[in-house]
Amino acid sequence: MHGGRRLEGVVRIGGAKNSILPILAAVLLNKSTDEIVLTNVPRISDVVKMVQILRSLGAEITWSGTDMVITTYNLSGFAVDEKLMREMRSTIFLMGAILARFGQVCISHPGGCAIGQRPIDLHLKGLMALGAQLREQHGYIYASCSRLIGTDIHLDFPSVGATENIMLAAVYARGTTVINNAAKEPEIVDLQNILNKMGAKICGAGTDQIKIVGVSQLHGVEYNVIPDRIVAGTYMMAAAATGGDVTLENVIPNHLDAVISKLREAGVQIREENDRIRIQAPEQINALEYVRTLPYPGFPTDLQAPIMSVLARAQGTSIIVENVFDSRFKHVGELNRMGAQIIVTSDNRTAVVHGVKRLTGASVSAPDLRAGAALVIAGLAAEGKTTIDGLEHINRGYENLENDLAKLGADIKRISSDD
Ligand code: EPZ
Repeated sequence: MHGGRRLEGVVRIGGAKNSILPILAAVLLNKSTDEIVLTNVPRISDVVKMVQILRSLGAEITWSGTDMVITTYNLSGFAVDEKLMREMRSTIFLMGAILARFGQVCISHPGGCAIGQRPIDLHLKGLMALGAQLREQHGYIYASCSRLIGTDIHLDFPSVGATENIMLAAVYARGTTVINNAAKEPEIVDLQNILNKMGAKICGAGTDQIKIVGVSQLHGVEYNVIPDRIVAGTYMMAAAATGGDVTLENVIPNHLDAVISKLREAGVQIREENDRIRIQAPEQINALEYVRTLPYPGFPTDLQAPIMSVLARAQGTSIIVENVFDSRFKHVGELNRMGAQIIVTSDNRTAVVHGVKRLTGASVSAPDLRAGAALVIAGLAAEGKTTIDGLEHINRGYENLENDLAKLGADIKRISSDD
């Protein structure tokens, strides 16, 4: 890619990765012969992997364009393939759904990943509170329970995945389960909505207390996945980094309140109208005294790397505090190769970003999904040529990043590894 060009035009946002993944776990709860029809499904590699896992368990899935039809009447297994599990740790919330369906589940311990240790203690404590017996050995976790019993659970931290895992496990539990200090992300509301349309009895998603009354059966449904607020935020950052004028279509603006507020503080003009957001940015934005990542509705940790790329070229010094993950600054070294002046403090939780007038293109490597997106944003703003490898990380969460950006005027293309 060659940077230095303003982005201009309209881009349509696809379905949310962090919504479709737990929803694909939820469909396993459907024991009926009914079909489940999902629309606005993003064509990203994490969904490809999740489809492979569901098929390995016996689900029948047809996927054309952004529509997916799934039947899970004849599931054959409760053990998730280790290789597939290791490739995508977020499949941990399959535990709750498979345990609820079969009374037992066997998964490979997901391990850590590029953004931290990614512990699963809150998931396991939640399932044990519902009555599951757990055994961990040889890298596998085996859980069993003939019938889960509803109970009150308090999460030490509003973990998105643990909230989803417990919701899924509690759908068929006897009695009522209450999750206190639950995560409030929009993707959890999406999960509640599809489960209730399938016949579950859940309320409170979007607040810090979620109540699940156990039922005995679910049925088929047709459901439209919400737009991806993190992909939308990524394009907002790309517009802000290039002094661009970009309109996003098919978004839910209030899912991005914290992001809109921060970009306005930096001097970016943003107009919200129904399912569209228009971003008009100055050639150089102001630094932000603080960006602190927090659980929703705070500033999303998944946009910490992208906004750092924008602030790398701001007028002044910004401070970014990563409060959610313990090791999510792997993009800093790569940005500094592009002329950014960023220092990370010893606790690896705070980055001090001294804005520079110009970034310079370089060869850089994407260490994880959102850091990869941040390097693309920096390349758009940099003078000269930038080459990014590690695109497999970016493919996990972005359907057509380079095509969408090219349509907005960027000089960017994907080259195969042997080019
Ligand atoms: C989900 O991950 C998202 N992934 C992440 O998006 C997102 O960054 C994260 O929520 C926070 O919003 C999916 O939804 C598939 P958490 P998750 O459990 O569920 C600690 C992306 O780029 N924790 O809320 O794994 C954990 O270590 C990805 O799209 C425990 O200590 O996030 C972290 O510090 C990255 N024990 C914090 O909580 C546990 O049992 C937040 O984790 C679970 C989590």
